[in-house]
Amino acid sequence: MKILTVVGARPQFIKATPVSQALQNADISEFLVHTGQHYDANMSQVFFDELSIPQPDLNLGVGSGSHGKQTGEMLMRLEEVMMTEKPDWTLVYGDTNSTLAATLAAIKLHIPVAHVEAGLRSFNRRMPEEHNRVITDRCADLLFCPTQTAMDNLSREGIDAGAFLVGDVMYDSVLAFAEIARQRSQILDRLGLTRHGFLLATVHRPANTDDPQRLNAILEALTGISDIVVFPLHPRTRKKIQELGWKTEDIQANGVMIIEPTGYLDMLALEQNARLILTDSGGVQKESYFFATPCITLRDETEWVETLETGWNVLAGADSEKIMHHVSSFAPTGSPPSIFGDGHAAQKIAYQLLSH
Ligand code: UD1
Ligand code: UDP
Repeated sequence: MKILTVVGARPQFIKATPVSQALQNADISEFLVHTGQHYDANMSQVFFDELSIPQPDLNLGVGSGSHGKQTGEMLMRLEEVMMTEKPDWTLVYGDTNSTLAATLAAIKLHIPVAHVEAGLRSFNRRMPEEHNRVITDRCADLLFCPTQTAMDNLSREGIDAGAFLVGDVMYDSVLAFAEIARQRSQILDRLGLTRHGFLLATVHRPANTDDPQRLNAILEALTGISDIVVFPLHPRTRKKIQELGWKTEDIQANGVMIIEPTGYLDMLALEQNARLILTDSGGVQKESYFFATPCITLRDETEWVETLETGWNVLAGADSEKIMHHVSSFAPTGSPPSIFGDGHAAQKIAYQLLSH
């Protein structure tokens, strides 16, 4: 059996790591294509260096662009690769333009599609990811869901055949790498941080970065917090902050440590030791849950509704007062119940691929 895996953006390298390992263990041959959607060393290569994911067999070098240009370029190039490689399955992850392009290229060539992290919905059609998810799930033959909510979402859309509740591959990944991060990451020492002596923030959603009012409100909140805030800056956000006229020195002077995007091990070390996480990232919301680090989500809704229901995540939108309020008062106790599977999602995915 031959699988053609398509990845392109930071979270996909992390999601693909345990699955690639499980495919190898099951003697399934994998041809790994990187679309080149993310290309800075700290958005891409660092993950191939740190994790056990194999180097891509091919990098299409598509890079950045408008949605149409980026997705279109990927679609054209992926079609060529698929015609040459003739895989039995195309394997896609999550909700990016790389996911959508690979799905569209594959279905027109009658290559079945398997979607990892299927069934997630924000119900916000202004998010590009929501369209990518809905279309990918409609086209996929195998749909690997991380949560029961994801299964229910698919069922409501009439998609039952081919859907499997396997758990979350990011949970598999955290189980494999959290201890390695504790041993190897030097980031706390390098930045002079202590356990629970800082907050961690990430921001990259267009709804926040491309709306000056929302980005200003988030920056006002981050600079108004009395704790140290460690802020690894996504390149999209760095550009937008500059365009808004904020100077990084002024932000830093107010206790916000702006750093380059980190590798995965450093990120896991930061997440495990932060007192609180503020984020609009999907993956970071989940990781904060895995580590029982309370999360304030800088969005108006989330796909990961279980993290709200269990009380470990709270929505603050881009409202600086709400953010500040939660920073001073949000303190869930106990431990988050296990809702993301048993840490063997990747194995279950490999098994299902083999049996189909
Ligand atoms: C993409 C995904 C998003 C995911 C995120 C993970 C889509 C529609 N969005 O968003 O779902 O959460 O990745 O991080 O697929 N840039 C660089 N260097 C890079 C990559 C990007 O400078 O290596 C800059 C470019 O200016 C680019 C911008 O960031 O235009 C946005 O990159 P893009 O890949 O289009 O979207 P993300 O915001 O990263
Ligand atoms: N991540 C990282 N370094 C960073 C920011 C994020 O390694 O500076 C990791 C994070 O631990 C998680 C994934 O990237 O595993 C989340 O990706 P991102 O926030 O870019 O995208 P999303 O999950 O929102 O699609």
